[in-house]
Amino acid sequence: MSDRVVVAGAVYDRGRLLAARRSAPPELAGRWELPGGKVEPGESGEQALVRELREELGVETEPLERIPGEWPLKPGYVLRVWTARLVSGVPAPLQDHDELRWLGPGEGDTVDWLEQDRPAVAEAVRRLADG
Ligand code: CDP
Repeated sequence: MSDRVVVAGAVYDRGRLLAARRSAPPELAGRWELPGGKVEPGESGEQALVRELREELGVETEPLERIPGEWPLKPGYVLRVWTARLVSGVPAPLQDHDELRWLGPGEGDTVDWLEQDRPAVAEAVRRLADG
């Protein structure tokens, strides 16, 4: 069986990148991630990303580009990441998170990212710096 895909968004707004601190499950609580979740049957990765960001943060977003690569999570799951533009709304930690933070250029290392998110975060921060 192929791996289940989890999608996450490097959400940009006004030159900053959104980081979200997980509140659950206990083994991930307190660590920071790019927000997202599992792709449901029949959804594209982009569709799942837009839905997850709406559910978790209450915002509308537009996926821009896939960050090349795929990162293993727990057995049977892989992570894929897109950059995305905030279209409307103010992100709020509605589900899964207890804090959100906008990181400006040079602030990419100021939160404790989940290990599996780090390569995509590094690329997202590079793209942010390139403007
Ligand atoms: O919301 P949903 O149940 O669809 O998914 P989730 O619980 O947010 O994420 C599914 C799994 O992917 C969890 O084990 C997360 O820890 C992991 N994940 C991750 O490692 N990095 C992300 N940026 C997003 C999710």
